[in-house]
Amino acid sequence: MSKESQGKSEVLQSLRWENGALSLLDQRLLPEEIVYLKLTTSQDVWEAIRELKVRGAPAIGIAAAYGVVLGVADFDGTMDQWVSEVNRHADYLATSRPTAVNLFWALDRIKVRADALASSGMKTEEAVQALLAEAQLIQAEDEATNRRIGEHALTLFEDGMGVLTHCNAGGLATAKYGTALAPFYLALEQGIHLKVFADETRPVLQGARLTAFELQQAGVDVTLICDNMAGHVMSKGWIQAVIVGTDRVAANGDVANKIGTYSVAVLAKAHNIPFYVACPLSTIDLSTPTGADIPIEERHSDEITVGFGKRTAPQGIAVYNPAFDITPNELVTAIITEKGIIKAPYFESLRQLFD
Ligand code: MRU
Repeated sequence: MSKESQGKSEVLQSLRWENGALSLLDQRLLPEEIVYLKLTTSQDVWEAIRELKVRGAPAIGIAAAYGVVLGVADFDGTMDQWVSEVNRHADYLATSRPTAVNLFWALDRIKVRADALASSGMKTEEAVQALLAEAQLIQAEDEATNRRIGEHALTLFEDGMGVLTHCNAGGLATAKYGTALAPFYLALEQGIHLKVFADETRPVLQGARLTAFELQQAGVDVTLICDNMAGHVMSKGWIQAVIVGTDRVAANGDVANKIGTYSVAVLAKAHNIPFYVACPLSTIDLSTPTGADIPIEERHSDEITVGFGKRTAPQGIAVYNPAFDITPNELVTAIITEKGIIKAPYFESLRQLFD
């Protein structure tokens, strides 16, 4: 793995395939430093996902797909052995983080493609190129999907509205545009003024470091607030809608997203503010019945006690650090997908999306 710094003026892409390697923006260093890492092994990619160098549900799925390609790029053996290697690297990458279903969705898609390539009688060198093309297709499709989500979401917003978002579901979390942030980019293109409020998103500050950064760079009107200020700004009448991304939507419409999302949904309900979830079909998991069945990642206590190098809690303190929470479907006004906007009853409307 190697590093390369970049000036701040370029449009930032979370990841791209370049010269036979995965070039990945190290999101831990933002907004201070813009550094692209050159990843050359599936282990590099596993570590990048685990350590949040790349994060956000769609982006980790895309990164993992490239990770499998890196794992089998130099493989020398029979086609059957090659397929076993694809499966081995995919299963390994699937252990990097547990909650975002896009990770498993992308890896399953890569496995299915590898099987099809083997059945077609291809040689391994050709199959590697075809697998790379599949990973690139996943990335290209994500960009197109997000633009469509943005178009649908924008129909819910009007010029002058205040919109609150939590965590980072932007271009940095995806191939481009983001899911929840896509309507803000499209509004900018169309001259529609939205006043965005970004929760800072404790403990890793994806809202402050990433959402505030990418929207500010793009020229969106964005105001940063601490998580515990959301109720206050709602009570002042400054927020007309909330929009967030998601890591997994269960079959009944329960939504897993960054820790703190549930509190925002409760606050939105209390203030009669619509709560929208932007969600590509790749984030919907019909095989998980309810939110209670979604595995919630717990991360290291250091994120809370010595976040960003400064100790802010006593040594030895007991800490609980879940990275995600579940917003029950009854708090979700609508789910915005690339196929359109769906509403309750979610068990039926989500299923219909796949018919
Ligand atoms: O821990 P993170 O930063 O990967 O969590 C990200 C989120 O919770 C996002 O809101 C979600 O992945 C949607 S990204 C389009």
